[in-house]
Amino acid sequence: MASGRTHRIAVIAGDGVGIEVVEAGLGVLRAAAERHGFTLATDELPWGSVHYRETGEMMPADGIETLRGYDAIYVGAVGSPDVPDDVTLWGLLLPIRQVLDQYVNLRPVRLRPGVTSPLRTAKIDMLCVRENTEGEYSGVGGRAHRGLPHEVGIQTDVFTREGVERIARYAFELARKRRGKLTSVTKSNAGRHAFVFWDDVVADVAGDYPDIELERVLVDAAAAYFVTRPESFDVVVGSNLFMDVLTDLGAAIQGGMGLAASANVKPDGGVPGMFEPVHGSAPDIAGTGVANPVGAVWAGAMMLDDLGEAEAGAAVMRAIEDVLAAGEVRTPDIGGGTGTAELADALVASVRG
Ligand code: NAI
Ligand code: MG
Repeated sequence: MASGRTHRIAVIAGDGVGIEVVEAGLGVLRAAAERHGFTLATDELPWGSVHYRETGEMMPADGIETLRGYDAIYVGAVGSPDVPDDVTLWGLLLPIRQVLDQYVNLRPVRLRPGVTSPLRTAKIDMLCVRENTEGEYSGVGGRAHRGLPHEVGIQTDVFTREGVERIARYAFELARKRRGKLTSVTKSNAGRHAFVFWDDVVADVAGDYPDIELERVLVDAAAAYFVTRPESFDVVVGSNLFMDVLTDLGAAIQGGMGLAASANVKPDGGVPGMFEPVHGSAPDIAGTGVANPVGAVWAGAMMLDDLGEAEAGAAVMRAIEDVLAAGEVRTPDIGGGTGTAELADALVASVRG
């Protein structure tokens, strides 16, 4: 049965509910590995806010080099009420995405049977593609005249032809494998330099995809359309900030933050991908044992796919679908009364079959 396949996984559980959902997720992934004949060799890296309080850093200086030695990175969430949020994010997740050049951030938005959307519609199945290394989160800018009345803060968006072209191409390819429609989200009426440039590059790439329907939508309108006509979206591509915001809306319409999953990858790039739920450390519910583990488990299924374990990934996805559709075991955020561990146990049982 054991084929000897081993995948080396760096686990960064992080803070708050990140720790709880990663534990739940690993249990489900291990059950899938056992069933499908491979091993997940996990190393738990104790990085995050506790590490920061002890050392002044979210991760060691050679942290990213350490991560390069793994096949994948499995993350919970970082963020703590007593550490500034820009420190936690810029100390860990953003540098990992940027230095490993994980330029695709893939965020599926799918309403499943058994889950209630706050919207009336029952048909939501889109794939959001977020540019993950530049744009509004390039980190270019600064502050001057600190503490003086004329203090300034400057944040510069950076869009490169290569950066926009590769994310657009990736999104067109995905659309080709799905329903053949791509929506590009910008704000090129007001953002007349970078976003008009984005539109131009996307139009160039579109020349190679005459079979794909390309729709251009301004981000404010897109926010409304996510609510009024979510069924019209297939693949949606946009910049780092816009898709960050829109995918929280995506999480909400598919039933809640706890359900949403995310993959950070460099396609064919020879670097480990990073797989995480979309949500943060949720300090409001951390430690109470009720965090929904589905987003983390779904991210784990995306990780198995990326590792070439498509059958095991599909088995985990089926477990999520079956358990949610049965509706007996649900965390409070999706209208139930059970906790993280019980939902994880139900998923493990379903994977074992
Ligand atoms: P959040 O995603 O942690 O929480 C937003 C809301 O969703 C809260 O009401 C929370 O209870 C709920 N929620 C989140 N995960 C849930 C789950 N698994 N099950 C059920 N309900 C869940 O976002 P928030 O409150 O803006 O940020 C909290 C901290 O997390 C901050 O320090 C922030 O910087 C950090 N953060 C980290 C992220 C990451 O590590 N990728 C992403 C977003 C925020
Ligand atoms: Mg976000």
